[in-house]
Amino acid sequence: MEETTHSGEPLYLKVARLIEAQIQAGGLRVGDRIPSIRSFSRQQKVSVSTTLQAYFWLENRGYVEARNKSGFYVRVPLEDLAPEPKFRTADSGPAEVGVGDVLMKVMRAVAEPGMVPLGAACPAPALQPYHKLNRITRSIAHSDPFHSSYYQFPPGSELLRRQIARRSLEFGCSFSAADILITCGAMEALNLCLRAVAGPGDVIAIESPTYFGVLLAIEALGMKALEIPTHPRTGLNLDALESSIKKHRVKACIAMTNCQNPLGYIMGDEKKKALVDLLARRQIPLIEDDLSGDLAFDLERPKVAKAFDRNGMVLLCSSFSKVLAPGFRVGWVEAGRYRKEVERLKFLTTIATPSLPQLVVANFLESGGYDRHLRSLRLALNDQIQAMSKAIAKYFPSGTRLTRPAGGYLLWVELPKSVNALKLFRQAIAEKITIIPGGLFSASGHYQSHIRISCGYPWSDQIDRALVTLGKLCEEFAR
Ligand SMILES: Cc1ncc(COP(=O)(O)O)c(C=O)c1O
Repeated sequence: MEETTHSGEPLYLKVARLIEAQIQAGGLRVGDRIPSIRSFSRQQKVSVSTTLQAYFWLENRGYVEARNKSGFYVRVPLEDLAPEPKFRTADSGPAEVGVGDVLMKVMRAVAEPGMVPLGAACPAPALQPYHKLNRITRSIAHSDPFHSSYYQFPPGSELLRRQIARRSLEFGCSFSAADILITCGAMEALNLCLRAVAGPGDVIAIESPTYFGVLLAIEALGMKALEIPTHPRTGLNLDALESSIKKHRVKACIAMTNCQNPLGYIMGDEKKKALVDLLARRQIPLIEDDLSGDLAFDLERPKVAKAFDRNGMVLLCSSFSKVLAPGFRVGWVEAGRYRKEVERLKFLTTIATPSLPQLVVANFLESGGYDRHLRSLRLALNDQIQAMSKAIAKYFPSGTRLTRPAGGYLLWVELPKSVNALKLFRQAIAEKITIIPGGLFSASGHYQSHIRISCGYPWSDQIDRALVTLGKLCEEFAR
């Protein structure tokens, strides 16, 4: 039975209000860890289950959040955030893709030195385990001076493939080393998969908005993109996908089911399974991009859609670019029934993959430091997302809408209609601030008033000032 106070109020509520009051008075601030359940129970002389109820109450009201087995932390109150983006439902039909030229210009500007880095989707170098990676590199050079004196032909380093296979249990699969092919980043994996399952002129169903690299690959291969509406929290609209499949001859589907770029959603297990089943019924392969699944903020690492694949129709791509070292270009693919064809295409395209980065990543994984690194990276990214979300709500004009990512380091910002995101991008570059204009995430001309903001860098005065400037630039469009 629920414990109550003299006034009849549930005891857990009284206890929860103590923490609520501390948060409101500023004694506990965003990012602070609240006392552990056991110590708070002892301190307040209440049962563990009462404290647990109190913490869930605080969590439901958005005061705190549970983080990866490390306790409860104060979060940005929900009412301090801008509302979420609207759910787009319009169907746009297959479109030729033409984002390559603009994207090259945008990326060149984003990579200029001295910019405030809100554009590129990468964690700050300081958040990458470069010390350890450098140490491993030196030790390999010392113990195996011939590490790069031969071609590392497909499928790639066995040591690395074994480590990836071992980790596959974490996301609901049980791969063997022989299932995996090492690639030059996830981008090569996506390209190879597309080439294995479709050809020029074919229609590829994609999430809308989607990562511009997906559009680039479709463009480069002369295919067409069919944008499927997504919900900013729950992902692909499966009804819309089903009716698009009935209307158009869809040859393949590409989806980021975990920590989607740019929306940050994680599709639930049931939805992942429904997606896999829907496509399998129509013999449509699913190319799944799980680049940032390891960066989910939840207690448990989310499964991939591949975990529900019974027919080898899901081609799972990933890489270590977002968690270890983008410059290593170490990616991989488990291509199901298309494995041989993907491996053949890999050989025809680049013959081999650089050997040293593969060895370094394999050693890093083997040494057991990966999970520890992930834990601290996720916490840092979650903090950065919250700080940035709060600042955007404060500095951007009313009418701004903002995603609530379930992982990763990206925010998708819907600006008032008067804002032209490409113009805003140019003005921001003149102020030495990088952002990515929303038009690059669509093949059909959507998202002209949206931008993607990367939260890969720790909060600083410089970032605060950059967001103030961006907010002012947005306001000027309304004048
Ligand atoms: C969703 C997504 N997929 C694939 C890639 C490409 O990954 P890689 O750098 O490993 O080629 C990126 C890079 O930003 C990405 O965000």
